[in-house]
Amino acid sequence: MNYNRSLGRDIHIYSAKEPDLVLGGLILASGMTNTNFYAMVEIVFIFTTNFTLRHRSGVVITRDDGPIQPGDYFIVSAGTCATNNEALISSLEAIHPGARDGNFRTSVRDRDRRCVITETPVNERQVECGFRSGINACHIFPIAHNWLWENKNYGRWVKDNIDDESEPSGSINSVRNGILLRSDVHDWFNNYTLSIDPDDGYKIVAFNFDSRFGRSGARLNQAYVQSPDAPSKHLLRLHYRQAVLVNVRGGS
Ligand SMILES: *[C@@H]1O[C@H](CO)[C@@H](O)[C@H](O)[C@H]1NC(C)=O
Repeated sequence: MNYNRSLGRDIHIYSAKEPDLVLGGLILASGMTNTNFYAMVEIVFIFTTNFTLRHRSGVVITRDDGPIQPGDYFIVSAGTCATNNEALISSLEAIHPGARDGNFRTSVRDRDRRCVITETPVNERQVECGFRSGINACHIFPIAHNWLWENKNYGRWVKDNIDDESEPSGSINSVRNGILLRSDVHDWFNNYTLSIDPDDGYKIVAFNFDSRFGRSGARLNQAYVQSPDAPSKHLLRLHYRQAVLVNVRGGS
């Protein structure tokens, strides 16, 4: 799929040392703060010293909860700033994909009972009668990359007790690698156009115009994310980092 993710960006990122070369950018969706923007820049670039972000107007922005303003931003740092060339999981070949598992579907549906992003409930009667509800159990870490799951031991993040060395790592079909999403939301989550930032109160972040779902900036239910079998924050963080890399990194 050759989709140009830089179309429609209202933020462009440059280095102050090379002000003609676009290094990245972003389509603004509601709820994005200056702090979120700094965190994204720290994912996309690797710094050797501290840095600040300066708007073209000359204003240096601070790490606060104010909404990011559209425009051109310059990275200002005394040291070097290199683009993080980390590979995208979606660009890796899917070898040894995991097998789908009916228990995964049932356990995620029983835990969530609604699309966690749009809050659309599963119609239980429809499901009892054997119809598809249009609300699917999705893998946070893609099942197509089970090899990578095993290789990186991401299964340690779905254990009941992450600190218990004697507990074996879990499977890619663990309920903690699952999330219930309406099928259209699922498509956007799978291609990283929509993600969840566990480091900002599980905020929903849209990386494109949010007119479709209107949930960007809202947070997941807080009792839900604190529950012991909740989706793993480590896996959500990995998803969010991938979303930032694929959407923010690079010029047009
Ligand atoms: C993501 O998926 C949605 C739904 O299929 C599609 O409309 C959108 O263009 C996709 N985005 C990218 C960047 O592929």
